[in-house]
Amino acid sequence: MNIFAKLSGYFVLCAMLSLNLLPIAHAAGDVNRGQQLSTTCIACHNEDGNTTNPQWPKLAGQHASYLVTQMQLFKNGERPNPIMMPIMANFSEQHIEDLAAFYASQKTSIGTANPELVDRGKQLYRGGDIAKGIPACIACHGPDGRGNEQAGFPVLSGQNPDFTLEELEDYKASSRTSDLYGIMRTIAGRMDKEDMVAVASYIHGLH
Ligand code: HEC
Ligand code: HEC
Repeated sequence: MNIFAKLSGYFVLCAMLSLNLLPIAHAAGDVNRGQQLSTTCIACHNEDGNTTNPQWPKLAGQHASYLVTQMQLFKNGERPNPIMMPIMANFSEQHIEDLAAFYASQKTSIGTANPELVDRGKQLYRGGDIAKGIPACIACHGPDGRGNEQAGFPVLSGQNPDFTLEELEDYKASSRTSDLYGIMRTIAGRMDKEDMVAVASYIHGLH
């Protein structure tokens, strides 16, 4: 299937989700309980979810439903990561909802793009690369990198560039395979390392 067929299938699904045609079970999390549970996470993700380690992801301001899904994927091993899998194994579904509610309520810290990479990064993010078949990130992740919670498009703005690069490489290598319809695997598969580094730098300063 080519990428456009995949994308149109995906957009139909997203339209159904946004019209609430599919049932989504979603128990609300409790921000205060989530903050209490987050003491285990502080060493790596920082108190407010804005980690200062460039290789680890910021969680602050991410959509709650995306955080829930990713934590469930670590817990059941579908997103294999040697650090996060054992950590999530101990948390119940309610704990996961609470943790997600807490991090979603925090404010994302924004970084700065590398001036030497910003032109290429911006071009890829906002316009894609037609010759390489890379769609514009803006189509799903939005003009300010805030994504679209109902459609399942995560927040990217302010994310640490080393982490963004690693995720794009993981999608490309198919070592992260939990993306619906292989959307991100297909897109990252068309990017070379320079494209990934440039767009990751642009995203760091995007808001
Ligand atoms: C020892 C360090 C460490 C600790 C402690 C830790 N994490 Fe993580 N976390 C990571 C790393 C590294 C990743 C990136 C994993 C990957 O590349 O797939 C990550 C990824 C995540 C993600 C996915 C983010 C994304 O944008 O894809 C979530 C959600 C998450 N962690 C939540 C938590 C929560 C909640 C806790 C505490 C209960 C926690 N983590 C504790 C290191 C840690
Ligand atoms: C057709 C919609 C679509 C387009 C276009 C798109 N993405 Fe995504 N992106 C997604 C979805 C859906 C996910 C969640 C995938 C998953 O569940 O693993 C995602 C996840 C990501 C993640 C992982 C975030 C995290 O914290 O776990 C990164 C990084 C990313 N996209 C970067 C990009 C970049 C860079 C571009 C442009 C070159 C782009 N995306 C274009 C839909 C899209």
